[in-house]
Amino acid sequence: MITMKEIYKHLMRIFIEILVLFLAAFAVQAENGHELWLRKHNVNPMNVVCSENSPTVNIAHQELQKGWQGKTGETIVLSIKSDKSIQGDGYKLDASGVQANTELGILYGVYELLRRQHTDQPIIDEVSNPSYERRILDHWDNLDGTVERGYAGYSIFWRQGKDSLAVTERDKLLWQEYARANASVGINGSVLNNVNASPKILKIEFLKRVKAIADVLRPYGIKIYLSINFSSPVMLGGLKTSDPLDAKVITWWKTKIKEIYSLIPDVGGFLVKANSEGQPGPQDFGRTHAEGANMMADALKPYGGIVMWRAFVYSPKERDRARQSYDEFIPLDGQFRDNVIIQVKNSPVDFQPREPFSPLFGAMKKTSIMAELQITQEYLGQSNQLVYLLTMWEEFLQSDTYQEGTGSTVARCTDGSIFPQKYTAIAGVANIGLDTNWCGHHFAQANWYAFGRLAWNNRLTSDKIADEWIRLTFSRQQTNHSKTWNDNDWEEHFLFPIKQMMLQSREAAVNYMMPLGLHHIFAGDHHYGPGPWYAPKGLRLDWTPPYYHQADTNGIGFDRTRTGSNAVNQYHEPLCSQFNKLETCPEIYLLWFHHLPWDYKMKNGRILWDELCYHYDNGVQQVHQFQKIWDNEKPYIDTQRFEEVQSKLRRHCRDAQIWKDGCLLYF
Ligand code: GCU
Repeated sequence: MITMKEIYKHLMRIFIEILVLFLAAFAVQAENGHELWLRKHNVNPMNVVCSENSPTVNIAHQELQKGWQGKTGETIVLSIKSDKSIQGDGYKLDASGVQANTELGILYGVYELLRRQHTDQPIIDEVSNPSYERRILDHWDNLDGTVERGYAGYSIFWRQGKDSLAVTERDKLLWQEYARANASVGINGSVLNNVNASPKILKIEFLKRVKAIADVLRPYGIKIYLSINFSSPVMLGGLKTSDPLDAKVITWWKTKIKEIYSLIPDVGGFLVKANSEGQPGPQDFGRTHAEGANMMADALKPYGGIVMWRAFVYSPKERDRARQSYDEFIPLDGQFRDNVIIQVKNSPVDFQPREPFSPLFGAMKKTSIMAELQITQEYLGQSNQLVYLLTMWEEFLQSDTYQEGTGSTVARCTDGSIFPQKYTAIAGVANIGLDTNWCGHHFAQANWYAFGRLAWNNRLTSDKIADEWIRLTFSRQQTNHSKTWNDNDWEEHFLFPIKQMMLQSREAAVNYMMPLGLHHIFAGDHHYGPGPWYAPKGLRLDWTPPYYHQADTNGIGFDRTRTGSNAVNQYHEPLCSQFNKLETCPEIYLLWFHHLPWDYKMKNGRILWDELCYHYDNGVQQVHQFQKIWDNEKPYIDTQRFEEVQSKLRRHCRDAQIWKDGCLLYF
């Protein structure tokens, strides 16, 4: 006979089972990527000893308690004590804790300590100093909330509508999550608005919102910067001119900058796109880039602000776009104030899947230079294609410029090891938006992560960073399979194949889009699909693909040799001769530097046309392989992320095929 007590117990069990199922379903759902690489962990209680008490140190303290996976009851000491081996916001780490010169150094050291625990690396005694003093995300966010070249939804900073400038608790929470993610990888600056800047950013109502953002970002060590419009004195101030040498213009900027700093005392400075793609600049008044930049630098100097002046300039009148930024800026070397940094895109044309490094690196010897990378995948499949960009950035930073002898890599030419720069910096155009997973594609998060890690340490390899990111982002414990994989199984069947896929993904994109040095053969302005044929009447020639591929019945490629546009000459020897000569030009840059007949014999014996076909086809095969790899990973991944990436890879395969067919049929 069943008693009431047994019935009650039975019902309770059913209720608990339903509750567990419900919670499990919720937990699975929660795997939406919003937590990035900072996923929650089962933590052990521990103690923190620290004599300081400040918002930044308190964050470090909380992070340790939220993420500790070391021994239960262990004590970690955080001490701010100067040490000659520690530079800037660097830190010293050992098993007993973190030592740093600054509060931020403590925070970075704590994130490293936790990263080591969460990626199963030992805590060894080490000093870690940042490669660049300023590690900045450039947001191309417009004040109406749209994002130029953004593929992850609207801006996290700006929006449209009646209450667009009101700061909500939701805004603050999101900005805080953003700041935390950045600080965890060492990013310490954010440019809050598009380089194609609206003058409105300097209006008081917008500056108040900037202040609210800065207040949330500050404890995480992130300074804000503003993109400014060179015509602001006219467009906002009602002056008759924006001539940088005009006394009223100078006073206008000084007054505006004073107003900005009285509101936000630690603004990092300005980013300026001038006389580029229709933006106003000093040349409109017969002045040079140096005169324009210096005027602003002088006004910012009393507050410690810097000017990041972009070198991205080109005009349709010139024969070769790839030459122009060098031609324009080299004569100005040495004329800039020490708080101006020239921000140079990694490559001479524009963030293409593959270009050689910009010859300005190492060549401007008396001016501070910083690299601008593009994290948002404008030219690399946007948020639909899985492309891990670090292999490209590694190739770029490790390129030898030979400017001060062998070993003058771009990394060393920009981080102060070769040229003394008052400020060192690196920037990445952000890929962040309001999408739940921040970046539109789960794997695009890896590029944000990688940018930060590389900016902190420009010698880290793409393999090491991918390894870390995978370990941090995907768990061995799968909620929906209620199973924990053992380490070996997880590494062999998940970590390694996924890492291989990431490491090959950029080369795959080069193969199916623009192999052998081809570049900028996109259709239209969307920069997504192929369009080697795209040349509408009346459009600037340097905005049409035929300008770049120069294909006709006889051959293909842009002749930049000494007998062509002579862009090779902008590189230091031995590169200049190496690129100039067909026999020594690396095949990855062949059609970048040379115009060749279709039946040109490649080193492997194939003719150029066949080699081109081979690359396009190989790219498509590689993406099919990625799809197979991912399909096998189902048991290792939560349902939501598995399905979302699977669906993106389906599109990726289709896109690669369209690239191959489109380009080969046209050529
Ligand atoms: C590219 C991009 C533009 C951007 C520009 C820049 O041309 O397509 O949207 O404004 O670069 O870097 O200034």
